[in-house]
Amino acid sequence: MNLLIIGSGGREHAFAWKLSQSKKIKNLYIAPGNAGTASVGKNVDIAATDFESIKKFVLENNINMVVVGPEDPLVKGIHDFFLNDVELKNIPVIGPQKDGAQLEGSKDFSKQFMVRHNIPTARYETFTKEILAEGLKFLETLEPPYVLKADGLAAGKGVVIPTTLEEAKKELTEMLANAKFGNASAKVVIEEFLQGIELSVFVLTDGNSYKILPAAKDYKRIGEGDTGLNTGGMGAISPVPFADENFIKKVESLVIIPTINGLKKEGINYKGFIFIGLMNCDGNPSVIEYNVRMGDPETEAVLPRIKSDLLDLFQGVANSNLHEKTFEVDSRFATTVMLVAGGYPEEYKKGDEITGLENIKDSIVFHAGTKHNETAVVTNGGRVMAITSFGNTMNEALQKSFSNAEKINYKGKYYRKDIGKDLEKYF
Ligand code: AMP
Ligand code: GLY
Repeated sequence: MNLLIIGSGGREHAFAWKLSQSKKIKNLYIAPGNAGTASVGKNVDIAATDFESIKKFVLENNINMVVVGPEDPLVKGIHDFFLNDVELKNIPVIGPQKDGAQLEGSKDFSKQFMVRHNIPTARYETFTKEILAEGLKFLETLEPPYVLKADGLAAGKGVVIPTTLEEAKKELTEMLANAKFGNASAKVVIEEFLQGIELSVFVLTDGNSYKILPAAKDYKRIGEGDTGLNTGGMGAISPVPFADENFIKKVESLVIIPTINGLKKEGINYKGFIFIGLMNCDGNPSVIEYNVRMGDPETEAVLPRIKSDLLDLFQGVANSNLHEKTFEVDSRFATTVMLVAGGYPEEYKKGDEITGLENIKDSIVFHAGTKHNETAVVTNGGRVMAITSFGNTMNEALQKSFSNAEKINYKGKYYRKDIGKDLEKYF
């Protein structure tokens, strides 16, 4: 069969790498892809949200399945676009329709959903410009730090955590009255700050049954010791040592089952990934957020651990028989270290030549922000590449990722050398 992956990051390279190992796939395309995806499939120069061009390509190339990597096309309704088109409606799309994508597309929707279905999450209220004064009052009832979330998609920048009441009030005013995040902050969710340690749990569902994939821990801040600005993610570790079987069982009964049942009850036919961002608060899970896709860079640590054919699971999603499928997980640790461009997540340069890729041994290099120019592979994004390694211990895997990180070079290269350090105390 012929398969099209939508997206261009490290997550999509990991999907392409994994799916290229499936014997059932004849042609694998990635739109728009990057220099890494070009080594395992064919890149197609179409933007992830250009639905009309995607349609044309899908029909001309007899595509039999579309796997959507990022949230943007899902929130904009790529799956609905397929279902509403006579020529496309029988081509399965892995990723929810617009209604399900609201779980990520609107923080207010997802908080209300959690409350409706009794899913543990931080206490919250939602405010608009008209009731800014009430929002300012609500802040006074909370203890610092304060958690303010723009309702809509804000390219990962929409959550602000001020430490003083004064800053929090200023921030809320900026978001609501001055449209700091444009339309995304027309509504703002204010919630209690949760104390604990964070992890990402991934679920694949056909709308009825579900599979829990390996969990991962992400490193969001740019600086070592979890300092500085938020990024898309600077590294990932899977499995997560503090998320033992007992904890995952709690997540399943308190979060996953109520989520799947809640979607069904609300008539939302959800086919795709659910990424549950969780806080482990003294052994109890509390949901920070839902995403309607896999995480990046978590995918780069999670997918290599799945030993079975990923296409088989996707076919289970498409054909609503996921309950008949099984998959095997590699028990070893997979560690991912992200190399980023100097300056990221603020302004950074693109187009710098990347060298040393031929010296990598014992790691998988997933490209994120890269492209080919006439003569070389060059940087083309803030997060440049993810280096994933296996080990029987976390440190054995990390050592390989770090030593290979040294072998790749481009101007301004930066990576966090403390990925995994916070987890050592759990062994
Ligand atoms: P989100 O985009 O909702 O994942 O928020 C970005 C980051 O802010 C999360 O990964 C957490 O580290 C942090 N965060 C969000 N909500 C809370 C909360 N209620 N308590 C503590 N930290 C939070
Ligand atoms: N790594 C977090 C995310 O993909 O949103």
